[in-house]
Amino acid sequence: MLPEPGGRPPKHPKREIVNAILWPTASAPLTLAIASTVSAASAVAKDETTIGWSRSRRLTAPTILGVACWARTYPRPIRAPARPGPARACGRCRRLDCSVTATLPTVSWTPGSARPGSHLIYHLFFRLVLQHIDAEHAHALAKRSLRIARSTSLGRAAVRRLTGSPDRSLEVRALGLTFPSPVGVAAGLDKDATWFEDLGALGFGFVEVGTITASQQGGNPRPRVLRLVKDRALLNRLGFPNPGAESAAAHLRRAMGATIVGVNAGKSLLAPVEAAGRDYRAAVRPLAQLADYLVINVSSPNTPGLREMQAVPLLRPLIADVRSELAAAGSAVPLLIKIGPDLDDDQLDAVTALAVELELDGIVAVNTTVDRAVLTSAGAQAVPFQGGGLSGAPLRPRALQVLRRIHRNVGNSLVLISVGGIESAQDVWERILGGATLVQVYTGFIYEGPTWPARINRDLARRVRGAGRSSIQDLVGTGVAPNHGPV
Ligand SMILES: Cc1cc2nc3c(=O)[nH]c(=O)nc-3n(C[C@H](O)[C@H](O)[C@H](O)COP(=O)(O)O)c2cc1C
Repeated sequence: MLPEPGGRPPKHPKREIVNAILWPTASAPLTLAIASTVSAASAVAKDETTIGWSRSRRLTAPTILGVACWARTYPRPIRAPARPGPARACGRCRRLDCSVTATLPTVSWTPGSARPGSHLIYHLFFRLVLQHIDAEHAHALAKRSLRIARSTSLGRAAVRRLTGSPDRSLEVRALGLTFPSPVGVAAGLDKDATWFEDLGALGFGFVEVGTITASQQGGNPRPRVLRLVKDRALLNRLGFPNPGAESAAAHLRRAMGATIVGVNAGKSLLAPVEAAGRDYRAAVRPLAQLADYLVINVSSPNTPGLREMQAVPLLRPLIADVRSELAAAGSAVPLLIKIGPDLDDDQLDAVTALAVELELDGIVAVNTTVDRAVLTSAGAQAVPFQGGGLSGAPLRPRALQVLRRIHRNVGNSLVLISVGGIESAQDVWERILGGATLVQVYTGFIYEGPTWPARINRDLARRVRGAGRSSIQDLVGTGVAPNHGPV
């Protein structure tokens, strides 16, 4: 509805009346929601194991209901602005290209897409609640809330309505699969392969589960994940806690098959580097037939000796071992390696050349960094423990640099999955133009919340249309001149 020239914009009487009834009605569940979420969060923080299903359900269901009602009714833009205002930086992330906040004055909501209100609610919820509880407990709470929200057909329909499905222009064909969106979940968020379908339902095009090791392991002692909010970063020294390959395989077998699942396999904490081949074989054996693609992780900084395996003399036999295990299992699953951001240019070129020589299907770049210099001094001072890997915004420049270098060397002959510091549609766009066929996110999703994938998908689809293309895949690598020299 357009404003009359020079006058107040016309009202929409029907909507005004609906709002007048809905808003107060929705406020009650919201108040209840916040109260019960704080109580659920503190209960989880005290002792996660004493919270039974029924109690958490009692506390979490009103939360979801209230937030959903609130998001449904507020803010409800019923008037077009008299004039488009200047671009405004997001109050929380301070980015001009934060697609939601920057467009709030002129936003018009289309059914099937996440509302701007839900973005702001998450920012508020993050600041008031999540930020104050242990990161791993917050993670458990988010996982449980999403699980409960999707446990009924009504809940699933509500999530679908909030998120919508990615536009057809975002479809990407790679690794013998058709990804509904190039934006996926990075390894580490669904470590035990138990909520990838819930994550897929939020609008992610795929989920990489793991890292999975041969047998179950508990990881390092807590605290082991830290939020560095000012830097929009996470520091973790988890050390691959996971249920082991057999259990992960059982979880994957129960899946409905709607979400594309990559499996990230890693070295057990106790396996010596010399025996790594045998250890990785045991990890991939039960998963070979269940994964849509498989990643050999040689880059997490929290397992001693792991990153040494990025060196060609160790990596070559490791890949051969994994390949022979896959062949024995009769599996033709696409095989990729995941590398770290702390390799120097020569090491990076050597790994890339090996991937081309051995005809791997792709490279996932990058894992977390051990470089603390990327943090602001406030961020660096806030870190109470040694070691660990940094992720999030401080990793963005290096991740982009690595991607561009690899793409200059190999062109589109390998599928490049870029990960590290992605927070906005602009970041995804930059990676696609830089040569990434697919991208992944972890930390940005933690800071931006459950409507992030839907918002990014919408923004990307707009950009594809704006670029005059019908498919985002046409744009892969169009921003990087290929290097015609040897790899
Ligand atoms: C808490 C946490 C746990 C992670 N666990 C794993 C893991 O098990 N395996 C892995 O390959 N990468 C893991 N990662 C790294 C991410 O997959 C990703 O490469 C990295 O965080 C950079 O992306 P981001 O900046 O979007 O977070 C983890 C990251 C975080 C923050």
